[in-house]
Amino acid sequence: MALYRIRHAERLRGELEIHTAKNAVLPILCAGLLTREPLRIEGVPHLTDVDTLWAILQDCGAQICREGDALTLFTPEPVSPVEEDLLSRMRASVLVMGPLLARTGYARVGLPGGCAIGQRPIDLHLKGMQALGAESTLTPGSVTLQGTLRGGSVYLDFPSVGATENILLAAVLAQGVTRIENAAKEPEIVDLCALLSRMGAKIRGCGTSTLYIEGVRELHGCVYRPIPDRIEAGTLCCAVGMTQGSVFLRNIRPDHMRAVLYKLREAGMDFRESQAGLRISGRAKNPIQVRTLTYPGFPTDMQAPMMALALCSRGASVFCETIFENRFMHARELARLGARIRIEDRIALVEGGYPLQGAAVTSTDLRGGAALMLAGLLAQGETLLSDPHGHIARGYENLPGMLRELGADIEEATEDGWSSANG
Ligand code: UD1
Repeated sequence: MALYRIRHAERLRGELEIHTAKNAVLPILCAGLLTREPLRIEGVPHLTDVDTLWAILQDCGAQICREGDALTLFTPEPVSPVEEDLLSRMRASVLVMGPLLARTGYARVGLPGGCAIGQRPIDLHLKGMQALGAESTLTPGSVTLQGTLRGGSVYLDFPSVGATENILLAAVLAQGVTRIENAAKEPEIVDLCALLSRMGAKIRGCGTSTLYIEGVRELHGCVYRPIPDRIEAGTLCCAVGMTQGSVFLRNIRPDHMRAVLYKLREAGMDFRESQAGLRISGRAKNPIQVRTLTYPGFPTDMQAPMMALALCSRGASVFCETIFENRFMHARELARLGARIRIEDRIALVEGGYPLQGAAVTSTDLRGGAALMLAGLLAQGETLLSDPHGHIARGYENLPGMLRELGADIEEATEDGWSSANG
């Protein structure tokens, strides 16, 4: 259980380095199961989702060691995981399915967990494995797949990020050519393709909606550093816009966050891009209209932080969530601070510009938790944010510490009382 005490903040200022993207690192670590040679991934963030995946990969036979920010995986003999409790803790755990099936012809995995932001089925993952020749058997709580994989064609009814990754992770070692139609195009997919290509995979069409994968007999190890986290960067941009600050972000890929940057500009913020990074400044004073879409549209993971931002602009902002059916849970908690938000089905109407007052709130999911932390910066007085499931630390490496570096007053409860120490 994490507990944060957040006080009103004015004008966040300073410089920060963006961490490596959680959503790039998780599938990339799963790719370690595809080779009997060591795979070294650099810049791996300290996140509880990484710790959980580490335990799952060990359960799959991987030997893993961390040296500073680098993880090295070595998997001479992969096996199916047995600790179902671990799998149920995070959604990305299902990504061990593709590599295990490709490497051993067999995978039995527990059905995945993660944030309760929607139904999150895995039908498209299974459809892909079946197109590659695997037979699947569903039992309560788990799924078993077996078969020698060969290339096949699959059309994804929705460009699912996880399904595209899982099918890629299986197809790289399947005999023959696989075609994925309506594939996801997120930067994290392109990054996974880059890593797999570095390992010896033959993939064409990366970043487009049709991927061609020519299976190879084996893959080798390599050294790889994944892309920076566009959601962490976007969340910090929102914090700046809510406090009329000015911050310089290093290790950032503005080209991965165009939709978010356009919305922040519409809200009234300024940006200056340079080789060294991105300077963001100004105050979010205008209402915005946000519709979550697959990449390059506005990312669903930024919807909650952007809703926190919309609380400080005068007028009505509209949010339409098209990716997940239950992703407005943070709105109820924001209302405890005085936010005026009306939800109808997948639309949220946010009446911004009303003063917020600190109160006790509870984190509902990973990005919702971050949004509540940001709203605490806007509220007058003190906000007590409890995060009973540790959602925020699952996906942000020390978000309170990063905000403190910019001048925010955020303390975390420890066994010895309140702490505002970084590191
Ligand atoms: C990934 C990200 C998550 C992000 C999401 C959408 C990781 C670890 N997580 O999650 O942060 O919010 O992409 O950008 O990278 N769906 C199906 N059947 C399936 C798979 C998905 O119907 O087999 C549906 C889901 O219920 C959801 C939509 O497709 O409504 C998007 O899900 P998907 O793109 O698969 O997201 P994840 O990979 O779970």
